[in-house]
Amino acid sequence: MADLKDRVEGLRKAFEAEALKVGDAKSLEELRTAFLGRKKGHVTLLFEDLKTVPAEGKREAGRLINELKESVTVRLDAIEGQLSLAWPSVSGTSAEAKLDLTLPGRKKYVGAAHPLVLFQQEIENVFLGMGFTIEEGPEIETDYYNFEALNFPPHHPARDSWDTLYIKDDLLLRTHTSPVQIRVMEKKKPPIRIIIPGRVFRRETPDPTHLPMFMQIEGLVVDEGATFAHLKGTLEYFIRALFGEKIKVRFRPSFFPFTEPSAEVDIECIVCGGQDKSCRVCSGTGWKEILGSGMVDPQVLKNVNIDPEKYSGWAFGLGIDRTAMFAYGITEMRHFYENDLRFIRQFGAK
Ligand code: DAH
Repeated sequence: MADLKDRVEGLRKAFEAEALKVGDAKSLEELRTAFLGRKKGHVTLLFEDLKTVPAEGKREAGRLINELKESVTVRLDAIEGQLSLAWPSVSGTSAEAKLDLTLPGRKKYVGAAHPLVLFQQEIENVFLGMGFTIEEGPEIETDYYNFEALNFPPHHPARDSWDTLYIKDDLLLRTHTSPVQIRVMEKKKPPIRIIIPGRVFRRETPDPTHLPMFMQIEGLVVDEGATFAHLKGTLEYFIRALFGEKIKVRFRPSFFPFTEPSAEVDIECIVCGGQDKSCRVCSGTGWKEILGSGMVDPQVLKNVNIDPEKYSGWAFGLGIDRTAMFAYGITEMRHFYENDLRFIRQFGAK
């Protein structure tokens, strides 16, 4: 019995020494056969010898041999696992077969800004470069800031163009970023030169070009002697910075309660170049409206105690989502909010 115990220990040491030398699949198989081989494996032979052990020691001896067999098997499997992960050795066989060096590598993605955020930053950078600063305001607004101070009298029909989501009688989700103009003018005195990015909300049924939540960027300049020429020059500069020098821009008369005169700005359809009468982006008109603008109505300045005799202002509001759709040739606005990685990774993610 003592003799068998020594042999088990001796074999364990011998196995360890051999295991350290295994470097490829071939030597691994040799070692497996030497210890576990069905006829002449060292461990297998120990089981043969067990038959000669007297009855009272058999149980203990059997346990020792089984333990050895178990630890040898585990160790051999572990080595096999390591070999299959490692580079194939020049003489390797099965490890090499498991590693196909012609397969493309697996790409690791890191987080990146959302396409709309990237586009917003692009817009912001153009205005920051012209000396504008960034302001923000609340998404939940009162009727006063969203409408009344912007010169929408109560029950005025112009309110109907903003399909409003009300929380309570007097509390609503802002329908545009224009209320932040009022909030800033209440606190700061001219000269004012700001942009206001943010989310806005409207009662809309989602379709390819409408969503109940989208993004706008507002601009406001109030100063002595601010004119429509400044508005036009600044917006033209901005549009060319975003879409390139050659883009065609047009100003079209429009109406907003808080500006007088008002203008909407269209840019040439870069998707069809005005050539496709059935273009889904410009509906065949060749133009795409991207923003509303105008000279701040003197009544709005009075509402915030700025003297309209001394100061004048101009403002604009641009749809970030729709302009981004246009810039990237995307015909479905919902893509921006579905967070499908196949869509999102085409933009900022490296
Ligand atoms: N708030 C308007 C809208 O949501 C856009 C707009 C038009 C903003 C004219 C302005 C402006 O600041 O001057 O449709």
